[in-house]
Amino acid sequence: MGIDPNFDSNREKVGEENGVDVWGPVDPPEKLGIHGMHVAVDYDLCVADGACLENCPVDVFTWVDTPGHPESERKVEPTREDQCIDCMLCVDICPVDAIDVDGSRV
Ligand code: F3S
Ligand code: F3S
Repeated sequence: MGIDPNFDSNREKVGEENGVDVWGPVDPPEKLGIHGMHVAVDYDLCVADGACLENCPVDVFTWVDTPGHPESERKVEPTREDQCIDCMLCVDICPVDAIDVDGSRV
Protein backbone atom coordinates (compact mmCIF):
# COMPACT_ATOMS: atom_id res chain seq x y z
CA MET A 1 0.00 0.00 0.00
CA GLY A 2 1.26 3.46 -0.90
CA ILE A 3 1.13 6.84 0.81
CA ASP A 4 -2.21 7.82 2.35
CA PRO A 5 -3.52 10.69 0.16
CA ASN A 6 -5.57 11.91 3.15
CA PHE A 7 -2.58 12.10 5.50
CA ASP A 8 -3.30 15.75 6.31
CA SER A 9 -6.62 14.64 7.89
CA ASN A 10 -5.48 11.28 9.26
CA ARG A 11 -2.17 12.36 10.81
CA GLU A 12 -0.93 15.08 13.14
CA LYS A 13 1.62 17.63 12.01
CA VAL A 14 4.51 17.17 14.42
CA GLY A 15 6.98 19.76 13.16
CA GLU A 16 9.09 20.92 10.25
CA GLU A 17 12.40 19.81 8.73
CA ASN A 18 14.28 21.67 6.00
CA GLY A 19 11.31 24.04 5.74
CA VAL A 20 8.92 21.13 5.03
CA ASP A 21 5.97 19.96 7.18
CA VAL A 22 6.40 16.60 8.97
CA TRP A 23 3.37 14.40 9.75
CA GLY A 24 3.66 11.75 12.45
CA PRO A 25 3.95 9.31 13.95
CA VAL A 26 7.70 9.86 14.11
CA ASP A 27 10.16 7.75 16.12
CA PRO A 28 13.64 8.10 14.56
CA PRO A 29 15.60 6.49 13.12
CA GLU A 30 13.08 3.73 12.26
CA LYS A 31 9.91 5.81 11.81
CA LEU A 32 10.10 9.14 9.99
CA GLY A 33 6.52 9.95 8.94
CA ILE A 34 5.37 11.90 5.87
CA HIS A 35 7.24 15.00 4.67
CA GLY A 36 5.56 17.77 2.67
CA MET A 37 2.15 19.22 1.93
CA HIS A 38 1.45 19.98 -1.74
CA VAL A 39 4.12 17.40 -2.63
CA ALA A 40 4.25 14.71 0.08
CA VAL A 41 6.73 11.85 0.49
CA ASP A 42 6.14 8.94 2.87
CA TYR A 43 9.60 8.52 4.36
CA ASP A 44 8.67 5.12 5.78
CA LEU A 45 7.98 3.81 2.24
CA CYS A 46 10.71 5.57 0.23
CA VAL A 47 13.50 3.17 -0.85
CA ALA A 48 15.71 5.92 -2.31
CA ASP A 49 15.01 4.92 -5.91
CA GLY A 50 15.76 8.51 -6.99
CA ALA A 51 13.63 8.58 -10.16
CA CYS A 52 11.47 11.36 -8.72
CA LEU A 53 14.46 13.60 -8.02
CA GLU A 54 16.17 12.85 -11.34
CA ASN A 55 13.08 13.45 -13.47
CA CYS A 56 11.15 16.28 -11.80
CA PRO A 57 11.17 19.10 -14.41
CA VAL A 58 11.42 21.84 -11.77
CA ASP A 59 13.79 20.14 -9.27
CA VAL A 60 11.42 20.00 -6.32
CA PHE A 61 13.41 17.32 -4.45
CA THR A 62 16.66 17.29 -2.45
CA TRP A 63 18.41 14.25 -0.92
CA VAL A 64 18.59 14.04 2.87
CA ASP A 65 20.44 11.37 4.87
CA THR A 66 18.36 9.06 7.07
CA PRO A 67 20.88 6.67 8.66
CA GLY A 68 19.31 3.70 10.43
CA HIS A 69 16.00 3.74 8.56
CA PRO A 70 15.04 0.16 7.58
CA GLU A 71 14.01 0.98 3.97
CA SER A 72 16.87 3.28 2.92
CA GLU A 73 19.56 5.53 4.33
CA ARG A 74 18.50 8.56 2.34
CA LYS A 75 15.18 10.08 1.29
CA VAL A 76 13.94 12.90 -0.93
CA GLU A 77 12.79 16.10 0.74
CA PRO A 78 10.28 18.19 -1.30
CA THR A 79 12.16 21.37 -0.41
CA ARG A 80 10.87 23.28 -3.44
CA GLU A 81 7.30 21.98 -3.42
CA ASP A 82 6.09 25.55 -4.06
CA GLN A 83 7.62 25.20 -7.56
CA CYS A 84 5.63 22.04 -8.45
CA ILE A 85 3.68 22.27 -11.72
CA ASP A 86 1.55 19.17 -10.97
CA CYS A 87 2.96 17.14 -13.86
CA MET A 88 2.50 13.98 -11.68
CA LEU A 89 5.62 12.35 -13.08
CA CYS A 90 6.99 11.63 -9.59
CA VAL A 91 3.70 10.07 -8.48
CA ASP A 92 3.63 7.79 -11.54
CA ILE A 93 7.32 6.82 -11.49
CA CYS A 94 7.90 5.97 -7.82
CA PRO A 95 8.17 2.15 -7.58
CA VAL A 96 6.71 2.04 -4.05
CA ASP A 97 4.02 4.75 -4.41
CA ALA A 98 5.64 6.88 -1.74
CA ILE A 99 4.60 10.25 -3.25
CA ASP A 100 1.26 12.05 -3.37
CA VAL A 101 0.73 15.41 -5.09
CA ASP A 102 -2.44 17.42 -4.59
CA GLY A 103 -2.78 20.96 -5.89
CA SER A 104 -5.57 21.64 -3.37
CA ARG A 105 -3.09 21.12 -0.52
CA VAL A 106 -0.97 24.23 -0.14
FE1 F3S B 1 7.91 17.59 -9.92
FE2 F3S B 1 6.27 15.77 -9.09
FE3 F3S B 1 5.50 18.27 -9.14
S1 F3S B 1 7.71 15.55 -10.75
S2 F3S B 1 6.59 19.11 -10.87
S3 F3S B 1 7.09 17.40 -7.88
S4 F3S B 1 4.24 16.52 -9.63
FE1 F3S C 1 11.86 7.51 -2.91
FE2 F3S C 1 10.12 6.88 -4.71
FE3 F3S C 1 11.61 8.98 -5.06
S1 F3S C 1 11.39 5.48 -3.62
S2 F3S C 1 13.50 8.53 -3.97
S3 F3S C 1 10.08 8.69 -3.43
S4 F3S C 1 10.99 7.55 -6.65
